[in-house]
Amino acid sequence: MKVARITLSDRASAGVYADRSGPEIERVFCEAWGGAVEFEAHLLPDERDLIAETLRLVCARGECALVITTGGTGPSARDVTPEATRAVLEKELPGFGEAMRMLSFPTVPTAILSRATAGIRGKTLILNLPGNPRAIGECLPPLLPAIREALRHLAGE
Ligand code: MTE
Repeated sequence: MKVARITLSDRASAGVYADRSGPEIERVFCEAWGGAVEFEAHLLPDERDLIAETLRLVCARGECALVITTGGTGPSARDVTPEATRAVLEKELPGFGEAMRMLSFPTVPTAILSRATAGIRGKTLILNLPGNPRAIGECLPPLLPAIREALRHLAGE
């Protein structure tokens, strides 16, 4: 299975600091699903149209059953990942974002600042994650069973 991971960050994409979030996504998948997953990496600035176009292109290629974004889900002016994602979704799956916020909120009160969402375009599942690598380590593992089930549905199983 191939996963596209897309890091959205003005500063990481400009080389101001290294992208630690994309590699963290790979770490979580490798720990949970071992070598069954191959990755394609993207690093983009927080530009709504560029993000939406990249999502469209990755989905149209049909190689990746799953596209995971990280970053740009917060309340700041440059945070536009959920808007770019909704622009390309055919069906929204709001439960992924709701679960992340609900699970993290008791220990991380600022978790509710993330507007992350998820959904389906064609046969591809798209999932937003917050940009903080620690948030990825906290939010992604509990979502893996639902991700696997959604991928089965999309594959027609
Ligand atoms: N969720 C968890 N589990 N841990 C965190 O540290 N950070 C929050 C939130 N979700 C956080 C989290 C904060 S401070 C913000 S602003 C939002 O995610 C959005 O982050 P993003 O804009 O990098 O996506």
